[in-house]
Amino acid sequence: MTTSYSDEVTAYFKVKADGYDRVDEQVYWRLSDELLWEALLRYVLPSVPVGATMLDAGGGTGRWTDRLLRHRPDMTGVLYDLSPDMTRHARAKSVEHGYADRLTVRQGDLADLSEHVDDGQFDLIISFHNVLGFVTDVPSVLRQFANALKPGGQTALVVPNRYHAVYFNVLTGALNEAERAAVAHSTRFAPEMPVMKVFTPTQLTGTLNEIGLPVTTSTGFPVAVYPGFQETQLDGSSGVVKAVFADDAVYAQIKSLELRLLGEPGLAERGNNLFVVAGKPR
Ligand SMILES: C[S@@+](CC[C@H](N)C(=O)[O-])C[C@H]1O[C@@H](n2cnc3c(N)ncnc32)[C@H](O)[C@@H]1O
Repeated sequence: MTTSYSDEVTAYFKVKADGYDRVDEQVYWRLSDELLWEALLRYVLPSVPVGATMLDAGGGTGRWTDRLLRHRPDMTGVLYDLSPDMTRHARAKSVEHGYADRLTVRQGDLADLSEHVDDGQFDLIISFHNVLGFVTDVPSVLRQFANALKPGGQTALVVPNRYHAVYFNVLTGALNEAERAAVAHSTRFAPEMPVMKVFTPTQLTGTLNEIGLPVTTSTGFPVAVYPGFQETQLDGSSGVVKAVFADDAVYAQIKSLELRLLGEPGLAERGNNLFVVAGKPR
């Protein structure tokens, strides 16, 4: 029996699902999440209208839907993801945190998104942390995002940076993976991961502009501290990261430095993650 790529991705997240939210305990991911939240507050949420509807594309365990729907009780959302093992946790969070009536959870492949949502349904589409790395035809999925957005709606994307992928794999001695990132624009960050696509800011911005979603913000984060191998796992911190964040004062200083830099377009090339916001013209 042959296994499709989406079967491989589903199997990978089946194993990861129950422990996925433990990333909250890693100091590196705490910083990364705080920067992403600040980026949403600065570059996205001010133009999300009251009563807005959002789609969390590849929303997984609902970590970002949870933040957004708790922050904005006026909003409703759809979380769409391939993995029932991941979405089970999203549903449980929505019950635990009292917004189950404002969230619909759907299982499906983003390749078929348009069969499951309406044209012009959403004010905001988010897709964070490697989701687009795992889809087979990125322009097709982004076109479906464009169709699903209302005029004036926005999409905010966090995708893995190809340049960081080369650096990271050299750092961890995975030279073949570094080469794959450089040559084939795909890689993995740990041996058990499915191979995923990695992106450059120019390439992603170009694709979004071409399909009629002009980019309004392109930046990267974190840029002052890079993850080690441990941070690609669900728990544990590498020696380097632990040492850098050894006390709260150091953490606060690094965070304030990151916040000062956040938003500069040149950082898109340097961040572990690319952060891109694009809007559908009215
Ligand atoms: C690293 S997790 C990120 C989850 C969430 N966006 C977050 O930031 O916490 C990647 C998610 O993408 C989902 N995914 C991967 N490929 C997908 C596809 N083709 N269609 C829908 N979801 C997909 C996986 O099931 C997984 O839940």
